[in-house]
Amino acid sequence: MDNIGLLVTNDPELGEVRDAALVIEDGVVVAVERAGAQGDERIDAGGRCVIPGFVDSHTHLVFAGDRSEEFAARMAGAPYAAGGIRVTTDATRAASEDELTALTRARRDEALRAGITHLEIKSGYGLDVATERRLCEIAGEFTDDVTFLGAHVVPPGIPRAEYVALVCGPMLAACAPLARWIDVFCEPASPHAFDADEARAVLEAGRAAGLGLRVHGNQLAAGPGVRLAVELGAASVDHCTYLTGADVDALAGSDTVATLLPGVEFSTRSPYPDARRLLAAGVTVALATDCNPGTSYTSSMPFVIALAVREMGLTPAEAVWAATAGAARALRRDDIGHIAVGARADLAVLDAPTHLHLAYRPGVPLARALELA
Ligand code: NIG
Ligand code: FE
Repeated sequence: MDNIGLLVTNDPELGEVRDAALVIEDGVVVAVERAGAQGDERIDAGGRCVIPGFVDSHTHLVFAGDRSEEFAARMAGAPYAAGGIRVTTDATRAASEDELTALTRARRDEALRAGITHLEIKSGYGLDVATERRLCEIAGEFTDDVTFLGAHVVPPGIPRAEYVALVCGPMLAACAPLARWIDVFCEPASPHAFDADEARAVLEAGRAAGLGLRVHGNQLAAGPGVRLAVELGAASVDHCTYLTGADVDALAGSDTVATLLPGVEFSTRSPYPDARRLLAAGVTVALATDCNPGTSYTSSMPFVIALAVREMGLTPAEAVWAATAGAARALRRDDIGHIAVGARADLAVLDAPTHLHLAYRPGVPLARALELA
């Protein structure tokens, strides 16, 4: 790819190279050069800015149904309490495998059009063994970062302890071979989510089954999620809407990434967490869309970047890093999220001269994943 006006490599830091070219072979970067490089097939970037493709490290793409009325009610003052997950679970159970696959593909394609080149995808709208397994299978058609989220909420009609035993036993056995990660929604005082003891049981069972750990934590209130994630060595704790000083200190001394999801604060009218406080403490911060029908139905990483800059205190450069390199770190991957010899040639082309335009021009669809022939 030639005639790149500005190449953002994330190598090291943001790594800006002006007037660059990339030599790509079999989907892998083999050289970073000055513009004017020779090659068999030439893609002309036309002086545009090229960045590492966005890594969306937190999505719930496999679902059916619509909750726009719930969103409208929230915008009119209703609170978010995670009860709507039941509505999506009913619609998802009722959908056929072909329908769910087509819905997931459409959302994946939408993500590509927003510059996302790699997705993590969670199950979690099945909440029974057969449906959770089906959701993991469908997710696996689109990514190798599949997350088993049987512990999304306790479904109605089943005692909590019984459901936790199901998740840690037969459901995990059915889903672990299809997944890389296990996740749990941990909240201190939610009738739907899991408390610290329940979440610990789920994560320890997942780890024993060979899965890496992720946590939905501190979304609805300050609570045990962040510290549990750090204690158990989770790759990432996501949301982090309500953080105490002890949470920030725990994250700062750990390898656990704090994944911020500003689309959720936007769509639930919640306060935005202070990303500056995390960065000042030395915490690695990632940004992701959390694309899901309840709290953040967006596949637009540029929108997430703009929110993080305007509402969370990140600079535009920090936000771009968090949505690429930071998110790759949240998935413990070193083949994506940066541009260097040997990395995957997962690229987003911006219809703009610099990456600053992602936040500077909110709502404008500037980014697109480069699809190599
Ligand atoms: O990441 N917090 C839990 N799970 C999702 C929301 C699920 C829903 O409301 O459908 C989230 O925000
Ligand atoms: Fe989520």
